[in-house]
Amino acid sequence: MISNKMSNSKTNKCSFCNKHKDDVTKLIVASDVAICDECINLCNDLIIKDVKPEDQGNSTNKLLDPIEIKKYLDDYIIGQDKAKKVLSVAISNHYKRINNPPKDLEIQKGNVLLIGPTGSGKTLLTKTAAKILNVPFVVADATSLTEAGYVGDDVESMIGMLLAEAKNDIQLAERGIIFIDEIDKIARKGESTSITRDVSGEGVQQALLKLVEGTKCRIPNNGGRKHPNGEMTVVNTKNILFIAGGAFVGLEDSIRLRTKGTNIGFGAEIKSADNTIDLHSVTPDDLTKFGMIPEFIGRFTTVISVDNLTKEQLIEVLTTIKNNFVDQYKYLFKLDNIKLNFTQDALEKIAENCLNLKTGARGLQTELERILLPHMFNVLRYKENDITEINITINEVDNPKSVI
Ligand SMILES: Nc1ncnc2c1ncn2[C@@H]1O[C@H](COP(=O)(O)OP(=O)(O)O)[C@@H](O)[C@H]1O
Ligand SMILES: [Mg+2]
Repeated sequence: MISNKMSNSKTNKCSFCNKHKDDVTKLIVASDVAICDECINLCNDLIIKDVKPEDQGNSTNKLLDPIEIKKYLDDYIIGQDKAKKVLSVAISNHYKRINNPPKDLEIQKGNVLLIGPTGSGKTLLTKTAAKILNVPFVVADATSLTEAGYVGDDVESMIGMLLAEAKNDIQLAERGIIFIDEIDKIARKGESTSITRDVSGEGVQQALLKLVEGTKCRIPNNGGRKHPNGEMTVVNTKNILFIAGGAFVGLEDSIRLRTKGTNIGFGAEIKSADNTIDLHSVTPDDLTKFGMIPEFIGRFTTVISVDNLTKEQLIEVLTTIKNNFVDQYKYLFKLDNIKLNFTQDALEKIAENCLNLKTGARGLQTELERILLPHMFNVLRYKENDITEINITINEVDNPKSVI
């Protein structure tokens, strides 16, 4: 009987389910065994189910070399060299610590604060770091957060978002990264506004304190508002990495004041190449003067500053980095068999316009949309008229064709 089965499987039956090759879509045959497509799919499902959530986060184990993290960030982010190095070390240490919890030593969690101008890559840096670590990642906007009990999203809603991103896998969510954008917008207001309770500022910082420090959070299972009898999922935030980002406009003034009048040398005003105050020299005290409460700043042990992108760097964002904007639009036009070209001076002008708008790389796409809109609108007419190539020159950057 055994030999009978063996001879069947060799030629025309699946060794696993015994189905005949005519009854399946595909039968893969080796010297002594065969497997059908249905059994392959079944095995695949079993293997995927058996990958434990912690293995997913733990893929970080192999990737915890800060130099490797930095290299990966280099593929997606132009410039910001120092920020990339500091961030690589910070996230490497964070995941090393949570993968190997010390037995008789308390290591304080170090969250990260990213400061610097808008459109310089703060969100992109964080998002890319989460991608390499293969952990769930969400971006929350500090301006939409309120203290519990007020209208709006209370701070715990961020944990709910992370849990949803981890497909309700608590263990995985507990290793995730939360980016709190626009953190500077919840700075404490001037003393004159303290008569009523400051919902948007200090109160939210207070509410965030416990969360970023590490607490057990109760998240309603229905994803909606808390209900006394509703079912809850408990998520411990002690290993969640919080990265807060903000432009902190005006922070330079505080640094300038601090360093004013000092002589060259120690404590001298620290200026970057373009003669603006260098945010890399920011101290916790500067951030407190800006309106962040000291306890809050105390939870963000790594402060990273990103710089304004230069014209050359903006051109690189346009043309050379992975997923660059020009390639994205070239692809769109290619779908209609049209080749899109830009002259070098056109690219330079686009970058200059962005510099003037002070929107960082964020403005690049807006500029491209403005210039390319008439072409995109007419793209099918071009096809009819056998136009196969579009050349964007500096003239067109200054005076885009009219859509009408
Ligand atoms: N340093 C950079 N390298 C590559 N692309 C960048 C960089 N900075 C910004 N960008 C582009 O601009 C977009 C907006 O940047 P973002 O990371 O949201 O800036 P921020 O958070 O500092 O305001 C990004 O999605 C990316 O396309
Ligand atoms: Mg951002």
